[in-house]
Amino acid sequence: PAKPLQDTHGRTIKYLRISVTDRCDLRCRYCMAEQMTFLPRSKLLSLEEIAIIAERFIARGVTKIRLSGGEPLVRRDVAELVRRLGHNIGSGLEELTMTTNGTRLAQHAEAMVDAGIRRVNVSMDSRDPARFRYITRHGDVDQVIGGIYAARDAGLAIKINMVALKGFNEDEIAPMLGWCRDEGFDLSLIETMPLGAIDEDRTDRFLPLTKVFDELGQQFTLVRDAHKTGGPARYWNVDGTRTRLGVISPLTANFCDGCNRVRLTTEGKLYMCLGHDDQVDLKAALRDGGVAGLDVAIDAGLYAKPKAHDFRIGIGEGPAVARHMSVTGG
Ligand code: GTP
Ligand code: 5AD
Ligand code: SF4
Repeated sequence: PAKPLQDTHGRTIKYLRISVTDRCDLRCRYCMAEQMTFLPRSKLLSLEEIAIIAERFIARGVTKIRLSGGEPLVRRDVAELVRRLGHNIGSGLEELTMTTNGTRLAQHAEAMVDAGIRRVNVSMDSRDPARFRYITRHGDVDQVIGGIYAARDAGLAIKINMVALKGFNEDEIAPMLGWCRDEGFDLSLIETMPLGAIDEDRTDRFLPLTKVFDELGQQFTLVRDAHKTGGPARYWNVDGTRTRLGVISPLTANFCDGCNRVRLTTEGKLYMCLGHDDQVDLKAALRDGGVAGLDVAIDAGLYAKPKAHDFRIGIGEGPAVARHMSVTGG
């Protein structure tokens, strides 16, 4: 059997996140600048190359794959990729899933279910149309909510991702949790991370989730839930329902000890950590050396996987790394 994926800090990699495009139809203010330069299509991995790399990771012990972006559903051949990767479910791969902004979810939900996807994470930071438009610069929240309902009707479990932003949506966090509880969705709250240049100062928007959590505890019955997705969130059960509240707080609490993931970019680079520049070029390795070449590059990457990320939001300090979340795939 192929060698398992272990780093030098005693961690085993079981989760591969794949950014299938760095493009997006929205421009969330904490994520992107208004004017973005995207990769030329000639630089991207082909669908076939993504599948070969993903399948090599599965052979080496990856059990969970998440497609992300950018917005994965804006890539033209994404449905075909989902179908191809779906064939691995049950033979090594335990979960295939996606993080999407929801704008095109209604069109794709059925095909996703057919391919074996069981749940999706949908980014929605506000349910108010004007606010949603402001935060995303282009988005129509009704389209996203329509996508969420279509996905539920198709049989997908839904988790809403909400980036907690001071002065933007902090007053909507409790109502969002109430809505998710009533609709049967999970909710993950996320601290804004300093990745890539944007047009504003993230420091002004940073909201520590410790504070938010204490306030939610006064309105909801939150019971610690040992549920594990292999992702970075810690979970609480909400009001005795099936809804789980997840909290992702890379700035106020460090979860790197349990890190089980690496990230493939649409250009074929494998990043070892969201907050570091260490990477290996899997596209070149595959093109020059086939699957054997891939293994050598993957091992070299793992050897260099950093122990932890280090995000300090300091006034005027700028982003911790230059690349945007959409390049690394979140
Ligand atoms: P689940 O399978 O539902 O647990 O998903 P997930 O939390 O792994 O994925 P999702 O795409 O919904 O990501 C939620 C947030 O967690 C995003 O903002 C990610 O960037 C962030 N995230 C995921 N992994 C890491 C990590 O290793 N470090 C940091 N700092 N953030 C991460
Ligand atoms: N900090 C925190 N979360 C971010 N996301 C995008 N950019 C950032 C950032 N700078 C979120 C999106 C999506 C998830 C994959 O990452 O809202 O839900
Ligand atoms: Fe697009 Fe997601 Fe970034 Fe918003 S957070 S601009 S939806 S990639």
